[in-house]
Amino acid sequence: MSNDAFRLISPSGNELELPTHTGTTGPDVVDIGRLYREQGVFTYDPGFVATGSCKSDITFIDGEEGVLMYRGYPVEQLAAHSNFIEVCYLLLYGELPNTAELDAFDSTIRRHTMLNEGMLKFFNGFRYDAHPMAMLSAVVGSMSAYYHDTTDVHNPEHRDIFSHRILAKLPTIAAAAYKLNSGQPFVHPRNDLGYCENLLQMFFAVPAEPYEMDTVAAEALDLLFILHADHEQNCSTSTVRMAGSSGANPYSAIAAGISALWGPAHGGANEAVLEMLKEIGDTSQIKKYVAKAKDKDDPFRLMGFGHRVYKNFDPRATIIRDMCHKVIASLDGRDAPMFELALELEQVALKDDYFIEKNLYPNVDFYSGIIYRALGIPTSMFTVMFALGRSVGWCAHWREMISDPHAKISRPRQLYTGAAKRDYIAVEKR
Ligand code: ACO
Repeated sequence: MSNDAFRLISPSGNELELPTHTGTTGPDVVDIGRLYREQGVFTYDPGFVATGSCKSDITFIDGEEGVLMYRGYPVEQLAAHSNFIEVCYLLLYGELPNTAELDAFDSTIRRHTMLNEGMLKFFNGFRYDAHPMAMLSAVVGSMSAYYHDTTDVHNPEHRDIFSHRILAKLPTIAAAAYKLNSGQPFVHPRNDLGYCENLLQMFFAVPAEPYEMDTVAAEALDLLFILHADHEQNCSTSTVRMAGSSGANPYSAIAAGISALWGPAHGGANEAVLEMLKEIGDTSQIKKYVAKAKDKDDPFRLMGFGHRVYKNFDPRATIIRDMCHKVIASLDGRDAPMFELALELEQVALKDDYFIEKNLYPNVDFYSGIIYRALGIPTSMFTVMFALGRSVGWCAHWREMISDPHAKISRPRQLYTGAAKRDYIAVEKR
């Protein structure tokens, strides 16, 4: 994989040749592993803007061209022809399954959906208004206390069992959190239903009447989960890899990823978009809020706009916008004003010089929240929905990281800017 060397000349004139590596596609990387040993300097790249933290076979993004591929398959093709469970198999095992493999995998996920009764009791301890992301992260972290007999990170069978449990049980944990918030009784999973149908019935079924399945809702959720399934070394996935790099049990690593996802600059953005649209209120206010977003003295930003990697368009946003039309149409106009406000806001921003110059486009979260709201999912659950989709990406990356024989603990260095050496002064002399 080595190609031409990258030549660096230090201020003292020392020349250092650093090897470069070429991936399947995307920019080459300069291997700086020898830099400190041979030149005594670190590299400095806060926020990892130009730093590859690992090599990976899972997902490729070209932010300039708006390309996203899972294991080489363009996300548009997967969104059009596949389903979330098949995409999970692809991300975890590297290839699309044949019929027998898909059936076996689907059946495994369906048969691991129940929670240990002890785990369910945790929900009695949370306040009725606890944020569901706090509950999700706490209960997923607690899974290591239930499954410590299968957390040998060097055992491939244990790694499989862990991945199946995360995929299968996260919807049940999410539904338990939702039911606690809504004051309704917990609804057990049903193994005769597919992943999204089961999720919908656990959320919305009540003992008082039979639950009627909403097939458009199930289709929309499946699409959203496919589009959220992985996004290479994003903040939460990097957190999972970093936490897992110490050899920590994988449930803890996933709980760390859930916590990282919660922030408004990452998975919390879909919740923030809805709050923002509610605050804007109607189309007559759009100009005022776009001006606020451009004002450097105003902390307001257009939530759901901009992306660290996509500087042209986010391919996921386009697919989700189309699904948004379908969901809104199926609801006889309910939530249409919110969708129309979002469409108009997008148009105004896309024609504005500030957003054009800074390459700010709607990201995956600009429309996902509108779909979730239209399906009756409360705003506080939006980031949980993101976590359900992304859980497979976290598992795939953790598996790749832990099974790499050359994997090292993640341990970045720093530019120290604190006090220089000084002597301790006794408290009475300060
Ligand atoms: N509204 C207004 N201005 C913006 C926005 C926005 N949404 N996003 C970026 N900018 C401006 C910044 O102020 C900055 O301007 P400057 O160069 O004059 O200082 C410039 O565009 C570059 O922005 P950065 O924050 O430096 O870009 P970065 O790559 O670090 O951040 C991020 C990307 C965090 C997504 C940012 O665009 C943002 O905060 N967007 C809103 C939150 C959001 O939607 N997050 C979801 C991301 S997708 C995901 O995680 C699934």
